[in-house]
Amino acid sequence: MRTVPDFPEPGVLFRDIMPLLADPVVFAEVVAALAADAPGPIDLVAGMEARGFLLAAPVAMALGAGVVPVRKAGKLPGPVASATYALEYGTATVEVQPFTVPDGSRVLVIDDVLATGGTAAATVDLLERCGAEVVGLSFLVELGALRGRDLLPGRAVDVLLTL
Ligand code: PRP
Ligand code: HPA
Repeated sequence: MRTVPDFPEPGVLFRDIMPLLADPVVFAEVVAALAADAPGPIDLVAGMEARGFLLAAPVAMALGAGVVPVRKAGKLPGPVASATYALEYGTATVEVQPFTVPDGSRVLVIDDVLATGGTAAATVDLLERCGAEVVGLSFLVELGALRGRDLLPGRAVDVLLTL
């Protein structure tokens, strides 16, 4: 992993996970570990755009689950459900197609990095408004100092690595 100061804007110490995913052995280990930590049977794995997609799809395959993209605004044809939230840098809106999330489906949320938790909290809210049961959230890296877990009270949060 690389640590890049002042990316994508001044003051942000950016942890770059791309070298981990570019290594075939580490990539396979990460996917296997995320799948092994899944809390019980999973119907759908939801992954956040864009880096979450890289992990959500292979974890869904490993679990025999479907995959749902949680996309930035304007990328999915409607109808969509949406949520707006504050990011470590800027704000964002995420969207899901509710008709891809059957009522009561057991959903595992996967992303590469848990930072302030805004993306994850908005994603949980969005999926639950669509009728999902969010049974857990898993991340490759947690940036502990940013206290993202505080926005996910009572949730099963699994991380492979805390920095
Ligand atoms: C990053 C990361 C998470 C989110 C974490 O995505 O992949 O989705 O930020 O930050 P938070 O916990 O403070 O909400 P980003 O929005 O940079 O998009 P990208 O994956 O398209 O690069
Ligand atoms: N690295 C990668 N993704 C992120 C970061 C970071 O430091 N902060 C928010 N999203």
